[in-house]
Amino acid sequence: MYRSNTCGELNISHIETEVTLSGWVHKQRDKGFVVWVDLRDRYGITQLVFDEERTAAHLLETARKLGRETVIQVKGTVIERASKNPNIPTGDIEVLVTELEILNESLLPPFTIEDETDGGEDLRMKYRYLDIRRNPVKENLMFRHKVSMEVRKYLSDQGFIDVETPYLIKSTPEGARDFLVPSRMNEGQFYALPQSPQTFKQLLMVGGMDKYFQIVKCFRDEDLRADRQPEFTQIDCELAFVEQEDILNTFEGLTKHLLKEIKGVEIDNFPRITFDDAMKRYGNDKPDIRFGMEFGELNTVAQHKDFNVFNSAELVVGIAVPGGNSYTRKEIDKLTDWVKRPQVGALGMVYCRCNEDGSFKSSVDKFYDQEDLSQWAAATHAEPGDLICVLSGDTNKVRSQMSALRMELAERLGLRKPEEFAPLWVIDFPLLELDEETGNYHAMHHPFTSPKPGQLDLLDSDPGAVKANAYDLVLNGNEIGGGSIRIHDKKTQAIMFKHLGFTEEEAKAQFGFLMDAFQYGAPPHGGIAFGLDRLVAILGGQETIRDFIAFPKNNSGRDVMIDAPATIDDTQLKELHLKLDLE
Ligand code: AMO
Repeated sequence: MYRSNTCGELNISHIETEVTLSGWVHKQRDKGFVVWVDLRDRYGITQLVFDEERTAAHLLETARKLGRETVIQVKGTVIERASKNPNIPTGDIEVLVTELEILNESLLPPFTIEDETDGGEDLRMKYRYLDIRRNPVKENLMFRHKVSMEVRKYLSDQGFIDVETPYLIKSTPEGARDFLVPSRMNEGQFYALPQSPQTFKQLLMVGGMDKYFQIVKCFRDEDLRADRQPEFTQIDCELAFVEQEDILNTFEGLTKHLLKEIKGVEIDNFPRITFDDAMKRYGNDKPDIRFGMEFGELNTVAQHKDFNVFNSAELVVGIAVPGGNSYTRKEIDKLTDWVKRPQVGALGMVYCRCNEDGSFKSSVDKFYDQEDLSQWAAATHAEPGDLICVLSGDTNKVRSQMSALRMELAERLGLRKPEEFAPLWVIDFPLLELDEETGNYHAMHHPFTSPKPGQLDLLDSDPGAVKANAYDLVLNGNEIGGGSIRIHDKKTQAIMFKHLGFTEEEAKAQFGFLMDAFQYGAPPHGGIAFGLDRLVAILGGQETIRDFIAFPKNNSGRDVMIDAPATIDDTQLKELHLKLDLE
């Protein structure tokens, strides 16, 4: 038996008990006549003691030589500590060691196994198995486990059935590139790894499964960011005989359950906002509503004077920065530089100070009087003491620039509180999105999403205006889930493919199986998928999903620990009927 107890559970009630513990040497302190060793496992740290009076000489000698991260087993007696450590659960006791066995030696780790380690990101990723021994990483993985167990419990209780779908499939368009797998047995042919199980879950509805869920890996070859990994996990769900309202209620239920069980937070009904409104009020389809600073559109109160910059703009929009009137001129100049960075792309920023005495002082006083500025304040809900920041230009660009500024200022002002949770539904998304570069429309959600009832005819005359039965769940400024009511008849699906630029042959070749299935009594159905990594990270008060994934990829999509991707040898290439042309 390697252990009778873990290193996290012994306390004063165990005094005089004989115990066996196994774990890693976390720290060793040699005071000459006495040696203390902190023994660590997943559950905690227990202090071991070896001393000249009570411990056999050879044991004391071995204890002296124990290196960090050596794996040992000890037997001994639990005794009360002379000087207690109130900071850890085992701080009242120590184990007086009577037997010690070294189970495995360890090289000196390349960074310290401490909460605040001296190892940089690259080093920690290369030795991720050592990184996982550190509390913050270990706790994140345990936290993730807790969330996914609660998800399973909730959905299973609601009658959802966990069904696995295949990974070696054909392309499922979710807007990213596919990861491809060459087939050895079918020369010149490739599988695609699923960007999501979308088509399979719809086929499960045709198969009568009624309520499906799966916690499932998805693969997308896209540029990586803090909230994106090339392989990530979805809580994927689909239901038959449902309308949008049923889905919103069911998954609001799941989210409320998680917030309550995991964070002890109870939230009333989630607000709902249309896509159009979200863009108008926050410049963003995933608004962070933990704080205000809503956009005030200023066209009517800023385009009546001789200021050409505003007069020639499609949109003039402002936000009120709480307490911003205290910013120095230099600080405001810095903010202006910030919005002019290429990543944000504004040409400049106009500002207006809202003085405590109710007067205003703007950077464009030449053009606007106090009455004008008071209307700016009214439109942005600015209070005395605030600073109004104003941007102008093409509507879409300005909204996205102002959204970036709003988020940046909220971050600086400490308004994005990690322990505060503000979920909301964004609904009524456009069905199609115009690709500015190619001039083509593509599905904003995916090609299986149904238009709102009665809007199908609009597809010909004004495709950009058609709204979809699609919804996103947003939490603290992050899209944590998205879904839609699906098309479930062959005719509508064919019209949709046509509008997305597929020829009839292409649609048949790629999605014939789905269109065929629709002819055999496909029920009305819809669903949603949550990004589990994002959900877990946000519930954990963070936004970098990598910290909640055991073995993540770096920003170049590499696993630096196993050194993947890697080249393959000629025999393998030949078997796969592949020839490399690396010019
Ligand atoms: P969607 O593409 O919106 O919908 O994806 C659902 C959720 O998955 C998360 N997500 C990601 N997380 C980490 N890394 C990524 N690269 C990544 N991409 C997406 C997001 C997102 O909200 N089949 C549809 C769902 C449906 O219609 O039912 C789908 O995949 O949190």
